[in-house]
Amino acid sequence: MAVRGGLGLFLTSVLLAMAFAGFFGGVDSYNRPPMRKTLVVRNLADDLDAVSPQQVHISVVGEDKMRISWITETSTQATVQYGTSPGKYEFSADGTTSSYSYLTYDSGEIHDTVIGPLKPNSVYYYRCGIDSTREFSFKTPPAQFPVKFAVVGDLGQTGWTQSTLQHIAESNYDMLLLPGDLSYADLNQPLWDSFGRLVEPLASQRPWMVTQGNHEIEKIPLIHNEPFTAYNARWRMPFEQSGSGSNLFYSFNVAGVHVIMLGSYTDFDPKSAQFKWLEADLRKIDRNKTPWTVVLIHAPWYNSNTAHQGEKESIDMKASMEGLLYRARVDVVFAGHVHAYERFTRVYNGKTDNCGPVHITIGDGGNREGLASKYIDPKPDISIFREASFGHGQFEVVNATHALWTWHRNDDDSVVSSDSVWFKKPSISDPACKVKT
Ligand SMILES: [Fe+2]
Repeated sequence: MAVRGGLGLFLTSVLLAMAFAGFFGGVDSYNRPPMRKTLVVRNLADDLDAVSPQQVHISVVGEDKMRISWITETSTQATVQYGTSPGKYEFSADGTTSSYSYLTYDSGEIHDTVIGPLKPNSVYYYRCGIDSTREFSFKTPPAQFPVKFAVVGDLGQTGWTQSTLQHIAESNYDMLLLPGDLSYADLNQPLWDSFGRLVEPLASQRPWMVTQGNHEIEKIPLIHNEPFTAYNARWRMPFEQSGSGSNLFYSFNVAGVHVIMLGSYTDFDPKSAQFKWLEADLRKIDRNKTPWTVVLIHAPWYNSNTAHQGEKESIDMKASMEGLLYRARVDVVFAGHVHAYERFTRVYNGKTDNCGPVHITIGDGGNREGLASKYIDPKPDISIFREASFGHGQFEVVNATHALWTWHRNDDDSVVSSDSVWFKKPSISDPACKVKT
């Protein structure tokens, strides 16, 4: 994780200044209220040695396995030892190690190891690397309802992020879903390491399932042409298991919910690999096994905030894919990007539609850019609740027909439950809403 000096540092500074001015992360044309500074989280203890695991996070692989991801300063074995009692590691698995370079930065050793089979709703204790003294634990998701998701986008790493994470930690969730914009490193790669350390206390205990936003692209024409380099290296998701050829879009089942992660910043037109994969994935859903379908995107398809209006990732992606989601009777679409909270009614093609998904913007995790506080006036009828505050959401699917959604405002660091609604699957009361794939 070394950064080389001289001309490289100068170049990095210039590019960072451009990024902060909006060249790479989306142009801001609105005034945002006071923000908080980026936290830089260093190693937890000075005495951690070069092979101590850091930035540990976990993600589900299939229905009974878990990927353990962590970083070390220097090369070591990608071994995870694990078991159901503290300090007793009956099982062991080996994984793979990779690294990447970006401008003048060289990453640490990034380890990915899949462990299992694991029992549902069970606590496992683990350590990364055979000689590590750091013990972690996680709980696997349940195999059946109820299942509780924490949902938060545009997280970043500020004081707001820190208190939002504290609120999420207190929520007793089973899995975190993140609709893009993670670290706000914005080319400054050590901030990816800082973000990994900031989220480790949560992300090492529950699976964090993520998709990418514009802040993950980090492509610099002619200088670094490969997009998503850091994101793909650090946040490897289980794309192969769902037949996807890209880490940028994938799906998985958890309890009775089919979760689809889409990529707003990769091709989405009807001839694209992502479109064809989505079409096939929706067709394969077994609704006896997973009655609920949830989709995550970054750039919202419905948005009555003045921020991020007219972007092609919203307009063109919606035009290409909304029909697919509608005919498959997707229940909820979570988006980020706009730094505020907004909940729409069930909607399709711009109008209220009892068979359409509920769209929710939850891009209010707490990043350094602050809030998007201006709304289009008057409020469109399809927008039910909108507020420019930081916070996070909780989506608790209690059975095959009912789920409780709550939005929790981060009110000067205190958590305040602000929006709450029960979702009832329409097919129960409306035979017209049968699946059409
Ligand atoms: Fe964004």
